[in-house]
Amino acid sequence: MESLPQIEQALGMMSGPPSYSLNVLMQRRSVKAKNLIEPGPSDMMLQDILRASMRVPDHGMLAPWRYVIVERQQRPAFGKLLRRCYESDVTEPKRGQADALEQFVLEAPCLIVLLSRPDAKSPIPVWEQQLSAGAACMMLLSAAHASGFAGVWLTGPAAYCASLPEQIGHPDARVAGFFFLGTPSTPPEERPRPDPSQIISYWRPEIQSPD
Ligand SMILES: Cc1cc2nc3c(=O)[nH]c(=O)nc-3n(C[C@H](O)[C@H](O)[C@H](O)COP(=O)(O)O)c2cc1C
Repeated sequence: MESLPQIEQALGMMSGPPSYSLNVLMQRRSVKAKNLIEPGPSDMMLQDILRASMRVPDHGMLAPWRYVIVERQQRPAFGKLLRRCYESDVTEPKRGQADALEQFVLEAPCLIVLLSRPDAKSPIPVWEQQLSAGAACMMLLSAAHASGFAGVWLTGPAAYCASLPEQIGHPDARVAGFFFLGTPSTPPEERPRPDPSQIISYWRPEIQSPD
């Protein structure tokens, strides 16, 4: 649960009248995998979170994403698989990296690998299909948060191992992220957020683009 000061801080970031759902979104933030503890979502809750994650814009209704759940009892074997993929795919492996990958997947009660699986033969541009996968990733985090859990989206070297998708049953896909979900062990700290005035502009006919 958020403390009152945290809720007030989140409300202070908003310029309009508060709405419950927007407050919930404004309070979402990532939590380090090592700080995610039990309880995680039950199987039923996880199914709901994943169904919500799939409710994303998807041009052509191609469902260009796949989810692989790595249950806790499978994590040590999954860590060994990441090690093998890293050692076989990387020409100059970093010292300690393979060990770190084996440890990395042991964190948090729940681990999901979300893959982008565009259909290159479809008339829908691959870029749009990849954007849809990014949206599914974000919806996964938002749905977990709305269900009372926290999470984090990580990639790291394992996500870039070319052999991993095939090894987990999706040879034509690419890892979009490893998603760790659970309950924060301590209240998550806010991080600096971009100043909207530096990010948002209003188009006017007299403004010329730099190029
Ligand atoms: C595609 C993608 C990959 C990421 N991979 C990593 C990673 O491997 N390691 C890391 O420390 N953070 C990674 N991050 C950033 C974390 O998710 C980070 O904690 C997050 O941006 C914090 O912001 P939030 O509190 O708004 O969620 C990644 C983010 C994205 C979008």
